[in-house]
Amino acid sequence: MILMEGKPVAASIKNELKAAISKRSKENKKTPHLAAILVGNNGASETYVNSKVKNCLEVGIISSLFKYENNITESELLQQIKMLNENDDIDGILVQLPLPDHISEKKVITTISPAKDVDGFNPVSVGNMVLGFPTFISATPYGILLLLKYYNISLKSKHVVIIGRSNIVGTPLSILLSRNNEFGNATVTLTHSHTADLKEICRSADVIIAAIGKPQFIKADMIKTGAIVIDVGINRIKDDNKKNGYALVGDVDFESVSNKSSYISPVPGGVGLMTIAALLKNTFNACIYLHP
Ligand code: GUN
Repeated sequence: MILMEGKPVAASIKNELKAAISKRSKENKKTPHLAAILVGNNGASETYVNSKVKNCLEVGIISSLFKYENNITESELLQQIKMLNENDDIDGILVQLPLPDHISEKKVITTISPAKDVDGFNPVSVGNMVLGFPTFISATPYGILLLLKYYNISLKSKHVVIIGRSNIVGTPLSILLSRNNEFGNATVTLTHSHTADLKEICRSADVIIAAIGKPQFIKADMIKTGAIVIDVGINRIKDDNKKNGYALVGDVDFESVSNKSSYISPVPGGVGLMTIAALLKNTFNACIYLHP
């Protein structure tokens, strides 16, 4: 079994970005600048956003973090996004999801200018992705493509079973992996909570991508021997042995599944690290497009 660790992949992407940003700076070209918006005090969201900001700093991307209390109104938030759209110094905008119930995610993601939509959530970005036009691919699917590439895994003609049809992961991945390009040409089955015979479908998969947010849901009897397993889940489970009282586990029961798989991505240390590397790449690309 080969462990698909995100660390060396993310490190190599970050080194490339650091060199490219420093080269731009020597040529007096603009330094990329990401604006990150965080609303409320969701612990996981705070951790993710802080990690994004820290990673920007490591490669030389400027970041500005805008933090708002839970009681910010929808129109105030939309106004802030519009100001960032107009601000020439800002290249990429991300609004950490989920948002409080009184704010429409749809309005938020459609307000972010497609040119600065480094999360790739705007319907214009999604539409371009579906049609294979140049665009920002959202960070988790993009990170998974980069992880597969690094480990020289081609999905051509393979049966890929994706578990979970979220807008952020399952749905875009199902499209990306079935397209006719170097990352694609797979035969994709997108499964969800209403799928009948999930176990049988999973057992026919050459590649399993688990993105449902259910801790350790995929067990060894759901995969065939030699399958490639990509675990997108990041779940907190109670663990009294940990200082903070919880442990992070994926959607895959790593202990049993790893003995049967050919490749498996760990949690933590797998797809999560790739997501951030992909966001940094998108932010850099936004900058070179807006300020060649
Ligand atoms: N919430 C969960 N994943 C993501 C992500 O990739 N971007 C943003 N903005 N919010 C998220």
